[in-house]
Amino acid sequence: MSAPSSPVFALDQQYVFPTYDRAPVVFVRGEGAELIDENGARYLDCLSGIAVNALGYNHPRIVATLSDQAAKILHVCNLFHNEYQAQLARKLCSISGLQSAFFCNSGTEAIEAAIKVARNHAFRASGGAGHHKHEIVALEDSFHGRTLGALSLTGQRKYREPFEPLIPGIRFVPANDAAALQAAVNEKACALIMEPIQGEGGIRVLNREFLGAARSLCDRHGALLIFDEVQCGLGRTGFYLSYQGKGVQPDLVTLAKPLGLGIPMGALLGTRATRDDLTLGTHGSTFGGGPLACRMSLEFFQIMEEERLLERIRTLGNHFAAGLHDLKKKFSFVKEVRGEGLILGMELDFPGKDLVRTLLQRGYVINCAHERVLRFLPPYIITEVQLDRLIRALDDAFSGL
Ligand SMILES: Cc1ncc(COP(=O)(O)O)c(C=O)c1O
Repeated sequence: MSAPSSPVFALDQQYVFPTYDRAPVVFVRGEGAELIDENGARYLDCLSGIAVNALGYNHPRIVATLSDQAAKILHVCNLFHNEYQAQLARKLCSISGLQSAFFCNSGTEAIEAAIKVARNHAFRASGGAGHHKHEIVALEDSFHGRTLGALSLTGQRKYREPFEPLIPGIRFVPANDAAALQAAVNEKACALIMEPIQGEGGIRVLNREFLGAARSLCDRHGALLIFDEVQCGLGRTGFYLSYQGKGVQPDLVTLAKPLGLGIPMGALLGTRATRDDLTLGTHGSTFGGGPLACRMSLEFFQIMEEERLLERIRTLGNHFAAGLHDLKKKFSFVKEVRGEGLILGMELDFPGKDLVRTLLQRGYVINCAHERVLRFLPPYIITEVQLDRLIRALDDAFSGL
């Protein structure tokens, strides 16, 4: 860990809004799945910058692509075409089964775009006769972002309360409660939104029955089904989209996190039927879909496919989950192990914050979500040997409690 006297800490304290509970470490570089701090100490990264650094650090292809594009052109505004945006849109449509893409710079912005599509879809369907169909049904313990629109859909009181009133007409139901969902959706709903695996909510996987109920309710009431795949999408589960193989196709999908390989990048994908809901003058972004971010995304998919990383994620995920389940058998305070692929959570019967700090001191970067759930989001290029090291480190830390 960095020395307590690092000048970075004092500057941060003096000049930066205190929005984050930062650990006292300054990371200066990385190699593969390892992070290196300003004193040269190495840490095994099992968080990937919260699901962003999916291909690890200092990947030679990423470095080469970035510097090649920097020497060509970094920004082209959306009044013109760039070489990569439409190619990337085609790729995202082919992996998702959807037909249109809008590019922005973060997960939150993708959610904002989804809200606007849902509202405009209902508005157009009514022939422009008002906004009676404006409600959105979202889930308790969800997380969709911090801007006022995305926050309005986020079902966690602690994030919302200081900023209320938020946008009206949002109803929250518990995850995996199909009866509650049915009771909340009516003809006033323009959309249902859910993370197929809730990330910040503590790695909670939505079951097929619930996803299926959401689809049928949307069909019955003319609402759009939005899957927020910002954290669980783009390969994390061993599938490009976490809903694949679950028998449900959404109308809108939000993506971000690893999409730009560390360059800020978000996307909203939609069906052909939603294409006319974002048209000239209805939405836009200065930076969205720029040549650098789009080229990085295309490189992301190429590396994923050439290195067959989806299969690798499934294999590694099974191996890692088996190790976590062994710990559950050994330690009675471990209540549950949840997740798919390389998005895994371990629910404890006490807050996990101190354990996260202990692991960091021992050279492992993990995180805690929803207070009691240790959250693991390792890079896709991590090895079984490295994951075994983490399991041993957890075992030691648990034994010392
Ligand atoms: C599921 C989900 N949606 C949206 C967001 C917001 O994304 P961003 O922080 O890129 O704006 C996050 C961020 O953690 C997320 O996990």
